[in-house]
Amino acid sequence: MSWTPSSWREFPIKQQPHYENQDELKAVEAELASYPPLIFAGEARNLKAELARAGRGEAFLLQGGDCAESFGEFKASTIKNLFKLMLQMNMVLMYSTGKPIIKVGRIAGQFAKPRSSDFEEIDGVSLPSYRGDIINDIEFTSEARVPNAKRMIKAYNQSAATMNLLRAFARGGMADLAQVHQWNLDFIQDHDIGKKYEELSTKIDEAMRFMSACGLDIKTMPQLHQTVLYTSHEALLLNYEEALTKKDSLTSEWYDCSAHMLWIGDRTRNLTEAHIEYFRGIQNPIGCKVGPSMGEDELIGLIDALNPNNEEGRLNLIVRMGADKIEQYFPQLLARVKKEGKNVVWSCDPMHGNVEKASSGFKTRDFENILSEMKQFFAIHERMGTVAAGIHLEMTGEDVTECTGSQSCAITSDGLSSRYHTQCDPRLNAKQALELAFVISDTLKKAR
Ligand code: PEP
Ligand code: CO
Repeated sequence: MSWTPSSWREFPIKQQPHYENQDELKAVEAELASYPPLIFAGEARNLKAELARAGRGEAFLLQGGDCAESFGEFKASTIKNLFKLMLQMNMVLMYSTGKPIIKVGRIAGQFAKPRSSDFEEIDGVSLPSYRGDIINDIEFTSEARVPNAKRMIKAYNQSAATMNLLRAFARGGMADLAQVHQWNLDFIQDHDIGKKYEELSTKIDEAMRFMSACGLDIKTMPQLHQTVLYTSHEALLLNYEEALTKKDSLTSEWYDCSAHMLWIGDRTRNLTEAHIEYFRGIQNPIGCKVGPSMGEDELIGLIDALNPNNEEGRLNLIVRMGADKIEQYFPQLLARVKKEGKNVVWSCDPMHGNVEKASSGFKTRDFENILSEMKQFFAIHERMGTVAAGIHLEMTGEDVTECTGSQSCAITSDGLSSRYHTQCDPRLNAKQALELAFVISDTLKKAR
């Protein structure tokens, strides 16, 4: 079965827009294909090697960011706050596990959204669903909901600018361990969770002073002054992904150069469909969501299709069952994958199986359910002697009110309306995400 960047077009496909103007679509695809890649294949190989370590329990994957990035909320401050939050969580996790933390943002390309329904109804008016800013507009009018291919160009440009800023932060001093106190965000500082982080920062300062006193020249150690933040998104809109698929000049292999890592959503992972066809041919590290409807044989079939050489670090299975379902469905899948000796990197997405409608009408997730699924995920791995290699979160560095609960902010159903800003699914705010990092860190410490 020969593969090309466009061979997915011969397969059935779900969750795609229909573009009225096919000539315009072709012109946009050609223009995108002429643009430079957003990542270098060597970086994707580095991430794969790091994920291989996570799969063996020698590192831990922290993947997180928006459910959907938006054109309207494109601001340096939002990118900076998410970056700082990732660094804070990184510190918390690294300090407790003693392992390197692999940081992967849902950012710089996380635009296309699968939807549970093709139509959205408000007050008796039914319109095509919003599918992410790369496809149509969230405004509830029929014009706004028409898919527009030119939005792919805008998404590319926004991704490039976002990536540029992230690289500057990672290399230019923002990630310097001497700045560890500065990462505490303004609205967190005076709260218990901010203080808890501050105590940790002080310990890190002390450790740095100790190393200096021992005679180590810490100024010259790049590991203490720089970091790497990889990018990722759901590769849902294959017209966009195909256009950015390039042959690596060093290895002659194909890479999707729109991000370091791409994943397949739970609604588009059918073995005989287009997304599997596309993903099998790219050499990036990839993810696949594993929801409660996944069968054992189906999962083995997917693993064989996506990782035929059983390469370590190639395939991240992102488990998203829901707090009330994970114990019922996950252990069998895990046992089977273990028995068959498949190398996969297991991570936990405690967000997508725990969506509910609050009594105030908002789509939300409760912090207790998120914690519960996450803890069960770790406990199941411990019981089975397998590796819980990472966590996958929807979160923001902003002070939003989208998920209920948590000790640090105790958001109630009625409080959701205060700052509910998400384009799509409810995200953990910075306090909730940091609180979660401390809980993970306690869980991992106990397991150690
Ligand atoms: C997502 O990650 O935003 C998403 C849509 O997830 P899933 O495919 O697991 O529902
Ligand atoms: Co989501």
